[in-house]
Amino acid sequence: MSTGSRITIEQNTDILKRYAFLERACMRTLAGWLPGAPEWDAKNEIGLHIWESAQSADQLYGRLRELRVYQPERNLSPALVRLAQELDYAQNTAELMATVYLVVKKALRDAYYQHPEATWIDFDRPTVNVAERNLPAAERQMTWAEAFFQTIADSYPGWQAWRDYIAGLLEADGGITGLGEKGPLPERPTGARALLLPWKECQRDKSWPIFDPSVDAEPDRKAEPEAHRLWRFKHYLNEMTAAETLGSILWMTPEMPWEYQYNVSRHLWDEVRHSQLGQVRVKQLGLQYSDVPQVVQIYNVMMTLPAVEQYALLTTVIEPNGMPEKAANREHWESIHDDISAAAVSYDWSDENFHIRWGKKWTPVLLETYGYKETPEEIAARTEAWMMEHTPVKMQKKMAAEAHKGE
Ligand SMILES: [Fe+2]
Ligand SMILES: [Fe+2]
Repeated sequence: MSTGSRITIEQNTDILKRYAFLERACMRTLAGWLPGAPEWDAKNEIGLHIWESAQSADQLYGRLRELRVYQPERNLSPALVRLAQELDYAQNTAELMATVYLVVKKALRDAYYQHPEATWIDFDRPTVNVAERNLPAAERQMTWAEAFFQTIADSYPGWQAWRDYIAGLLEADGGITGLGEKGPLPERPTGARALLLPWKECQRDKSWPIFDPSVDAEPDRKAEPEAHRLWRFKHYLNEMTAAETLGSILWMTPEMPWEYQYNVSRHLWDEVRHSQLGQVRVKQLGLQYSDVPQVVQIYNVMMTLPAVEQYALLTTVIEPNGMPEKAANREHWESIHDDISAAAVSYDWSDENFHIRWGKKWTPVLLETYGYKETPEEIAARTEAWMMEHTPVKMQKKMAAEAHKGE
């Protein structure tokens, strides 16, 4: 049996609300920043961490409901709310990482580690279980972040002042649990500080080539199977832009229900994984990632649309239109005994079923929430017509044309 005094059930729910709120804040800030960080390795990791933060928050919300807290965002300390808003004001990858990871996620990791000692462990086993489930991802994220940060810190001098300010906000609010001594809020560092979110253009390493639509010819699947395969997996690698689009959409739609945010976080990570199908395959086929021209134009042009229209276009037009090609590729790669490519596309196809399902579920809610008068069918038709005019990717136009053949 545990001995000694422990936190009360009321303190426990207040603390769990803070953990959940901060996980969600990390999810949202990282989503907004996914297009803004030029470092390719960071994009790959951040995509996973957005989903892991969503999962950790969801676990905490579940336990809070069991403890009869149905409005976990109610009555949070204003300083904590301020901290979450300020996280978005990083000016570069180092400031983002020094705050989201090295301050907030680090505090969460320590908190999950310590929570079993803080609560009445014998009576509050389900909370201990949640802390234990959230801990491994938090540990792995920190191991990565601490090592990766060393590789970029010198490229962005001056991040310390912003890190100290964010750490100071948490400390002034009594630390991660809020039970520590409270103090006056720290002064924001002087100097202009623009909100860079949402990113209008997605960022890449300056030395990487940019896609040229005029030379993007689709090789014939049967006549040139090797050229077709390489071409196709280069486009997979570029699904990072779909993840980045979803990052900005998620950041721009905080009014939507939690379940939507949870689904979009997963959708975002799936698109990072689809990029990774491409990354794995182009490497096996002899290319470096940095050899593959980056289709940044699709993110940039979609960002001229509001979030609701981007989401409708992606999930009710682009993704459904893409399904027949995936099925045909799987059949083709199986027929030529390319098991790796066939396996890759079969998981992609499987994921896409859910993306389309989520699109059907959430597009009407987005339309309602943001005051659109259109039906889902109308916004699909309008955004598809827009895409035919504006997309730099011929493959998307071809898929749209084939989807409407015989109509
Ligand atoms: Fe995808
Ligand atoms: Fe998708």
